[in-house]
Order: sequence, then structure tokens, then C-alpha cells
Amino acid sequence: MKFFVDTADVAAIRELHELGMVDGVTTNPSLILKSGRDIIEVTKEICSFVDGPVSAEVVALQADAMIAEGRRLAEIAPNIAVKLPLTWDGLKACKVLTGEGKMVNVTLCFSPNQALLAAKAGATFISPFIGRLDDINLDGMELIRDIRQIYDNYDFKTQILAASIRTVNHVTESAVAGADVMTAPPEVIRKLANHPLTDAGLAQFMKDWEKTGQKIL
Ligand code: E4P
Repeated sequence: MKFFVDTADVAAIRELHELGMVDGVTTNPSLILKSGRDIIEVTKEICSFVDGPVSAEVVALQADAMIAEGRRLAEIAPNIAVKLPLTWDGLKACKVLTGEGKMVNVTLCFSPNQALLAAKAGATFISPFIGRLDDINLDGMELIRDIRQIYDNYDFKTQILAASIRTVNHVTESAVAGADVMTAPPEVIRKLANHPLTDAGLAQFMKDWEKTGQKIL
């Protein structure tokens, strides 16, 4: 499973990148706001050290304007994935931009039918939002499973990018369900290493080692 980091915080991306945990990055207008940076400038900086896909989202709502914004964003670096919302205008822009050879991430997907449309429009990635479905008492993971089944049934090449991941269990379940990629905030990725039995086991080993009176170096 590929790991994308869902943030525009360059320092956090760098830290995970040095550990080999960054296969790509996703941003959105809310994350750009949180970064306090200019979208072009921060995206360019991220692309200067991340080789994998870096999603940058358009903000226009009409297809023609989305296409123009998508082309501008794609000029930042060859690894830009233009992020488009799952609307008819977004799908139209997806068809045009993927036809030009650009990577496209279709975002704000909340149903299997929407994912089917994105695949037919040639999307490189589809982003089903798990956490936001869970927020309204629906089953975000069921959506990942349904999309996996549908894409496999018809051999669609669009990659399933599990998004709106809020917990470590979302990561595990997305991997089990066969999502190609997951994107999560840096703090969720950091938590993946945690286990209380690891902490307890390490504390015991340290205690016993001290009793041996030995040193390795
Ligand atoms: C993904 O591309 C989105 O930017 C992100 O995962 C949304 O997450 P949220 O629902 O926690 O805001």
C-alpha cells in the first residue's frame, strides 16, 4: 500500500520523507489555509523533494475554469496530480486533463456510483472520504470495499486512494480492503508505530538489561 501524507506542512512531510514513509502528498484548500502559505509556492517546495504524486486542488466550479486552473497547477512540477471535485464539471475536466496526460485525483467521493463515474472519466486516483462518512454514522470502510469490488469486476485502472483517514484502524482496514493508497495526516502515520505491548516489552528488557550490568559499547 502506498502512503500519501495529507498535509501542506512542509516540515512534517520532510520528517516522514526521511523515514521513507512518503510515496506522495495530498493537499486541499483547507490544508493550504492551515499552512498559511501561497498554494503555488508551498506546492513547488513539496515537489522539490517528493518524487511521487502531489495533489493540488482546483477551486473553480465550472469545467472550463477547472481545466485552466488544473493546467496552471500541473505546470508546477511533472508529479502534480490535479485534484478535482466529483461533480459533472469535475468529471468533464478530468476527461480533458487526463487526455492531456496529466494525473488527476477525483476527490470528495462518497458513493460507489461516483467512483464508477470517476473511473469511466479516466481518473488516476479516486478519493473516497472514510472519516466524513463515519462522522454521519455511515460506514466509510464499506465504501472502500464496494469500490474495490467494482473496479476489480471491470478491471478499471483508477487507483483507490483511501482519504479522510482519522485513525490507525482506518489505515489497517483500508489495507485489508485492498485500497491502493491511503492518505493520512502526519500524526496518524506517526501513531502507526505505537503499541502498548511494545512499550511494556521494551521497559521490561531495559529493566533486565540494567541488572546484567553489561554494556554493548
Ligand atoms: C484527501 O485528499 C483529503 O484532503 C482529506 O483526506 C480530507 O480529510 P478530512 O475529512 O479529515 O478533512
